[in-house]
Amino acid sequence: MRVTMIGTGYVGLVSGACFADFGHEVVCVDKDRSKIEKLEKGEIPIYEPGLEALVAENVKAGRLSFSLDPAASTPKADAVFIAVGTPSRRGDGFADLSYVHKAAEEIAEVMDGYTVVVTKSTVPVGTGTEVEEIIRRARPDADFSVVSNPEFLREGAAIEDFKRPDRVIVGAEDERAQKIMRELYRPLYLNETPIVFTNRATSELIKYASNAFLATKITFINEMADLCEKVGANVQEVARGIGLDGRIGPKFLHAGPGYGGSCFPKDTLALVRTAQVHHSPTKIVEAVVEINDARKKKMAARVIEACGGALEGKTAAVLGLTFKPNTDDMRDAPSLDIVPALQAAGAHVRAFDPVGMREAEGLLKDVEYVDGPYKTLDGADVVVIVTEWDEFRALDLERVKSLMKAPVMVDLRNIYRPDEMAEAGIDYYSIGRPR
Ligand code: UGA
Repeated sequence: MRVTMIGTGYVGLVSGACFADFGHEVVCVDKDRSKIEKLEKGEIPIYEPGLEALVAENVKAGRLSFSLDPAASTPKADAVFIAVGTPSRRGDGFADLSYVHKAAEEIAEVMDGYTVVVTKSTVPVGTGTEVEEIIRRARPDADFSVVSNPEFLREGAAIEDFKRPDRVIVGAEDERAQKIMRELYRPLYLNETPIVFTNRATSELIKYASNAFLATKITFINEMADLCEKVGANVQEVARGIGLDGRIGPKFLHAGPGYGGSCFPKDTLALVRTAQVHHSPTKIVEAVVEINDARKKKMAARVIEACGGALEGKTAAVLGLTFKPNTDDMRDAPSLDIVPALQAAGAHVRAFDPVGMREAEGLLKDVEYVDGPYKTLDGADVVVIVTEWDEFRALDLERVKSLMKAPVMVDLRNIYRPDEMAEAGIDYYSIGRPR
């Protein structure tokens, strides 16, 4: 199959490289000249484990290439994917669809012969119909189908998620489009991955409902963690105890500082707005959005409390800045709320993140960025674990204690056990567990 992928952001680049690896001929298109030039030189603009090698391999095999011009590959393509950004619109939280609309216009200009136009970007219900109308208006005689095929990959595990997904969702109502989609996902089909064919609106909603459900699960366990702290219970054991019930499941029950990233905050908000517009408000998701925003803001108070109620003149060592490990993505990261709040309380903040520091520098000011966890801790009054990078999981606790001015640790990801910290003589605070 021949594929054009419009947009070389996270989803576009990973999907393009994986489709090429499935054996298809893929051209990834982007307007950003510097991005395309970099990709042509084998440089990957995002941090994603395994992506650089996958791109290099498929470029070498002649299955993957990059272009500034959608006209170069679209006329011959069997499927053209729209994988452009859908950020929150400033002010009202709706998904901003201007890039999607623009892509539809561009595709309409150059498509030739039967083409399946696929929205892979996360788009509100009804967007497929809008894309269809835009193309139909520009090219009344064109032969095409518009399909919804949302992506469920996680940053940091994107390739694995694409190649071994729990399911593939395809919103395609006509036989011809279904056939092409089945062919594109052929290797997964052979692996017996469920490929769910449904109508377009259902497929579009499945994406938002999935993300909102996962965000709700996290928010639920975070609230349970708060309650655990009040009643002397242990949230990790609560999560295990409920997760063993097959109807609940063990995943996404890890309590922490609140979810962040480029998807959950944006998608929950967009779902809230869509539901309001259709006079069918989703009160649960509205509450989730509100609780999570408040939670991220409240995290710094834990640090202040751990330091005896005052941070003035103290040094806080922050380990991890990105919204989760294995990514350089800082979008809606809890650190963006925590660090300024520590500074506002009078702390000097010293921070380290294994790959996110360059991104962080532009967003978090007056922070002393240092190289490595032990340099961060040196002379600090408190250490705060904000992101659970693997390299923070096995710190030499004797060294930690000897380097710090006061051995106080606030672990917002529960990567240590309270008993090992007590034994090491570190004053340890975590989430939802007895001290
Ligand atoms: C999320 C979904 O997991 C993907 O399925 C989806 O495709 C993607 O959004 C998207 O819509 O593009 P991602 O944002 O990369 O993926 O990250 P997650 O691993 O889901 O984590 C999101 C946030 O939830 C992080 O801040 C993480 O720390 C937090 N989280 C996750 C918890 O606090 N507890 C958990 O148990 C799990």
